[in-house]
Amino acid sequence: MITLGIETSCDETGVALYCSERGLLAHLVHSQVALHAEYGGVVPELASRDHVRKLVPLLEALLQQAGLNTAAVDGVAYTAGPGLIGALLVGATVARGFAWARGIPALGVHHMEAHLLAPLLEERAPAFPFVALLVSGGHTQLVEVTGVGCYRLLGESLDDAAGEAFDKTAKLLGLGYPGGPALSHLALSGDPQRFRFPRPMTDRPGLDFSFSGLKTFALTTLQQEGLAAQADIARAFEEAVVETMVIKCRRALQASGHRRLVMAGGVSANQRLRSRLAEALAEMEAEVFYPRPEFCTDNGAMIAYLGHLRLGAGQRDAAGSTPRPRWPLEELVPL
Ligand code: KG4
Ligand code: ZN
Repeated sequence: MITLGIETSCDETGVALYCSERGLLAHLVHSQVALHAEYGGVVPELASRDHVRKLVPLLEALLQQAGLNTAAVDGVAYTAGPGLIGALLVGATVARGFAWARGIPALGVHHMEAHLLAPLLEERAPAFPFVALLVSGGHTQLVEVTGVGCYRLLGESLDDAAGEAFDKTAKLLGLGYPGGPALSHLALSGDPQRFRFPRPMTDRPGLDFSFSGLKTFALTTLQQEGLAAQADIARAFEEAVVETMVIKCRRALQASGHRRLVMAGGVSANQRLRSRLAEALAEMEAEVFYPRPEFCTDNGAMIAYLGHLRLGAGQRDAAGSTPRPRWPLEELVPL
């Protein structure tokens, strides 16, 4: 069975083909970064319009890359939420139109569930159960995962998501959009000893996060020290976010008794986070798993993979179902 996956929840158009026998056949991503850069963030209306322009040509290129035609596709999965409503509607419309024209099933899937299961696309895939750290531009969550669709929220951000905190801090340091990778790159040349930022909410029990104060801390430091301290501030900020996440991940593993941690979402591409988590977990004889960098950020492969699991189990869109800009992970049904 070959599943087509379509991702259009935010500022990346992603498409992929996943075969239940041969695995991932092809995947392509078109990033809208250049389009939004001059506005310093994603402009939802521009995002929707760009998905309209790019999605169909990208699908044609995908099929060509895989050496297949539309008749080879047995089912279509698309991101139905959470995300920007206009952007989601483009993917949903194209996916359901394609499926209807071909007489094959369509299924809207959950973007964060797709991120969460993306490490299963790798050769070294985690077995269930595990704890997942989901860190993207819109979410920071610790989730207990006992099977596909069996999720229990352990903790989440009470204000800014981790990626959002990176992006906002990068913006005030003058690094443009999207700031996460740029800030992380700049931090490499920063002095780790110069500033020490707080580790929010680590002095009390619990698994929730709060990152918005760190952005203010960065701003105050910048106002006091000037732009010459840019790299040292970036370093102190990154160190604080990473250490806070490491502390909470260890706590989540201890509390749940699980020995495997999965990291997913755009911020899981952060090298400092990866190496610090690997060190900290090795000390407690736990293992960490993550997708290859291109599958950490938004992509079609994770949607095609999740679609193959759920369509393969017989799940289909209900008649009249529509995309959901907000969609709690815990509402998902087990396979
Ligand atoms: O998962 P994703 O591609 O999109 C959402 O679903 O939100 O995540 C994008 C987020 C952005 O906030 C971006 O700045 C952040 O991931 N990001 C990073 C890095 N690469 C991407 N943050 C820190 N370090 C990175 N290397
Ligand atoms: Zn995402």
